[in-house]
Amino acid sequence: MAKKRPEDLRSHRWYGVKDLRAFGHRSRTKQMGFDDVDYAGKPVIGIVNTWSGINPCHAHFKERVESVKRGIFQAGGFPVELPAMSLSEPMVKPTTMLYRNFLAMEAEELVRSHPIDGVVLMGGCDKTTPALLMAAATMDLPTIFVPAGPMLRGNMRGQPLGSGSDAWKYWAELRAGRIDEPTWIEVEDGIARSPGHCMTMGTASTMTSISETLGMTLPGAASIPAADSNHSKMAVASGRRIVEMVWDDLKPSDILTPASFRNAVVADMALGGSTNAIIHLVAMAGRAKVPLALADFDAISRGIPVLANIRPSGKYLMEDFYYAGGLRGLLTRVKDALDLDCLTVNGRTLGENLEGAGVYDDDVIRPRDNAVYAEGATAVLFGNLAPSGCVIKPAAAEAHLLQHRGPAVVFEDYNDMAARIDDPALAVTADSVLVLKNAGPVGGPGMPEWGQLPLPRKLLEQGVRDMLRISDARMSGTSYGACVLHVAPESAVGGPLALVREGDEIEIDVAGRALRLHVSDEELARRRAAWKAPAPHYGRGFGALHAKHVTQADAGCDFDFLADGPAVPEPEIH
Ligand code: FES
Repeated sequence: MAKKRPEDLRSHRWYGVKDLRAFGHRSRTKQMGFDDVDYAGKPVIGIVNTWSGINPCHAHFKERVESVKRGIFQAGGFPVELPAMSLSEPMVKPTTMLYRNFLAMEAEELVRSHPIDGVVLMGGCDKTTPALLMAAATMDLPTIFVPAGPMLRGNMRGQPLGSGSDAWKYWAELRAGRIDEPTWIEVEDGIARSPGHCMTMGTASTMTSISETLGMTLPGAASIPAADSNHSKMAVASGRRIVEMVWDDLKPSDILTPASFRNAVVADMALGGSTNAIIHLVAMAGRAKVPLALADFDAISRGIPVLANIRPSGKYLMEDFYYAGGLRGLLTRVKDALDLDCLTVNGRTLGENLEGAGVYDDDVIRPRDNAVYAEGATAVLFGNLAPSGCVIKPAAAEAHLLQHRGPAVVFEDYNDMAARIDDPALAVTADSVLVLKNAGPVGGPGMPEWGQLPLPRKLLEQGVRDMLRISDARMSGTSYGACVLHVAPESAVGGPLALVREGDEIEIDVAGRALRLHVSDEELARRRAAWKAPAPHYGRGFGALHAKHVTQADAGCDFDFLADGPAVPEPEIH
């Protein structure tokens, strides 16, 4: 394609014209200590930086953004840092998912309203990656993603600790009285010991790997640990590359295609990725106007084994994955299922980027004939309890619960569950099915990660470590267990989950992809007639906007007015 000329740049409308407004833009840029030589006729690169003083996963972004700027200057661009909401997964309440669309909207408007020609997105902590890529797909300016990189593996007494997964595990041991308080504090001290996102195959590692597979990062970028010097070099190289992408006019719409999304789902399944990835991929595909349905995940899942032996489905951590060859190594093992002609941000195809990649540890990245899980990293189920679908991660569940029938123990909401789950009088056995209502996109609100319901203490003490659990919530990608998630439509909008009562028989058949509530249609109709919607959580502000416009899990939980509608025009410059 023809190279852009300086007068073709979007920023030319701000800087290049001879009028009073452009005079203002130039003089105000000079006010910041820049001269013509710094910016005139050069691509202005917006660096959307999700650093904050309370996001440990992005603690290194203050340094990394300087690396990105160095690369941009090296290549003859002009970097402009645009701070955006950080979405610190452990700190933001009630849940970061309530604000994913907020960040997507903010990033879109930041880019649209400023004289930006190309974009570097800096994210990694769970929701930041999909939010930023949703904005990128909508704005469709040349964009490159710089993933935060996983933190180093945790350590306690010489044993590795994994983000999230080992917190849940040792918390259950503490509640069961099998470890003491000082040991628990040692876990706290050792589980997060460097900058970077969670280093299990949680949502962060899944989504950054997906962004690389889609072609939105430089090859190899997603697997580099945050603390590794190669991470800084990758950030510099990304800065250099975005300037070339602007001149070449290489945009997300050239990269985010039906084939690249299919590749992303293949990678997700081979990684044993987080269930959250399904919601985010559907939302991202929606922004790119690529059709992607829950059924597509299930179909691809059946043919792709889990090869990444990473917790929570496997044994190792992301640092081990990097040394074993990382995502590029893994993708060589599912090459036959990938469309290798897909274009990526470096201007080369996915296939070209995989040249020379290898696997250096067959236990961390398994060969196809020795998979961690033969097929179906994520199974999509349908039935009268989830007419629009729900998901389960069979690889992270005890096998006997994948075909199960039992009586429901029903919790009306999270507080009800928290108040009663450890009650010795709770009528529950290992065969019961724990049901949590009002934890979906509207009901949570924001679809919190409550889907891994804690097991009742009295069953933990009996040695029970997994039970069938069903909710309209999500689950942390670092969680595990027989948890049916994302039940749609959710209970707060009147989905069938709202009608489940104590003792109702529920049956799951993962092989048959079915979830059934054994209650007659007539009885369900009677219950529906008596059902009342819960009171809204918010009367004003973003929470009220969210409740009004968020779509259900099967549609990606985007806002209806962001997913659909005509393109927003370029701003007038007056
Ligand atoms: Fe940021 Fe897990 S807390 S990725």
